[in-house]
Amino acid sequence: MAPQTTSHPDVVLNLALAVVASSTAPLLLLHEDLTVIAASKSFCNAFQIDPATLEGVALRKLGAGEWDMPQLTSLLEATASGYAAVDSYEIDLMREGRGNRRLVVNAQKLDYGTGAGIRLLVSVTDVTDARVAEKLAEEMLKEKAVLLQELQHRIANSLQIIASVLLQSARKVQSVETRSHLNDAHKRVMSVAALQQQLSTSSVADVELRPYFTTLCNSIAASMISDQDQLSLEVSIDDSVTSADVSVSLGLIVTELVINALKHAFPHERKGKIRVDYHSQGPNWTLSVTDNGVGMPRDAALAKPGLGTRIVQALTAQLQAQVRITDAGPGTTVSIAHAHIAAVQSAHATVGERAV
Ligand SMILES: Nc1ncnc2c1ncn2[C@@H]1O[C@H](COP(=O)(O)OP(=O)(O)OP(=O)(O)O)[C@@H](O)[C@H]1O
Ligand SMILES: [Mg+2]
Repeated sequence: MAPQTTSHPDVVLNLALAVVASSTAPLLLLHEDLTVIAASKSFCNAFQIDPATLEGVALRKLGAGEWDMPQLTSLLEATASGYAAVDSYEIDLMREGRGNRRLVVNAQKLDYGTGAGIRLLVSVTDVTDARVAEKLAEEMLKEKAVLLQELQHRIANSLQIIASVLLQSARKVQSVETRSHLNDAHKRVMSVAALQQQLSTSSVADVELRPYFTTLCNSIAASMISDQDQLSLEVSIDDSVTSADVSVSLGLIVTELVINALKHAFPHERKGKIRVDYHSQGPNWTLSVTDNGVGMPRDAALAKPGLGTRIVQALTAQLQAQVRITDAGPGTTVSIAHAHIAAVQSAHATVGERAV
């Protein structure tokens, strides 16, 4: 048997009334002339309207007249005529002495073609508190970002102060060896300051490596290469993006390796090139610094590991990578490679590698 459709006017009205009565959301059932047939309890509670005063009253006369909103009236009239639909329409309910409320209104035309007239089912959601909470969350986020930026500025400033103190001390000391150590410390701090500055301009979540390494190498070159014709520093970096903490470790490794090449590979104003490469494939990546200088000393006693080696080893271990030094004929390549499978294995066994 085919399902029977019932469209008796009373049944339709009763159904609509039952929906309104049982609704926990603020709902209004209106005649097409916008007089109220019924309102849900939650509507009366939310907008402080006495349920006994509702029936047969024009919408614009509800309460103290705050529902007399010409825009809403014309939209609901248009909906009743079938010209428009009210879909998430936002409007302010202005209530004298009780504060305004932001409402989201939806209206549905109920037309059963039974000659019983057209009715409108109107839902009214008060989103004032939700909007305030959203705004507050947005402001808190903004405030946090400003604070973070301020903190990064301060760190960068402090690093520059430390660097200048080191430089002043280096100028004052008599011992050549101590002066050289202080100069090295100054360069390291300056590189960290450059990294910090670069990070403060990128988002906390991810760092694009090409601009990051380019800025870092420009800053090292500016402070350490006096004759650009004698030495050049190139970067060749793919489109990789890493987290901020990984990028800091990579930046510090690059700093140490480039400084090593500048310090040791080109004695007696020998001409040459240094290249920084970084490329990744999935979780695997390789960072390398290559120079075409004199190469690592053959005599192990001369290639005594210094602080640079310790820094590179510690950071490489932290990144679960391995250091490899190869003869670039002429010169040296130091590669730091992170292979995902090797990293998993190294959790079980330590892989022995030659130090920088
Ligand atoms: N690119 C290079 N070319 C030639 N020799 C190098 C190169 N990199 C490192 N070395 C040699 O390896 C040694 C160890 O380097 P390491 O960075 O550990 O110490 P350092 O540079 O001498 O001192 P520090 O890094 O503490 O300032 C250096 O003294 C140098 O002899
Ligand atoms: Mg070094």
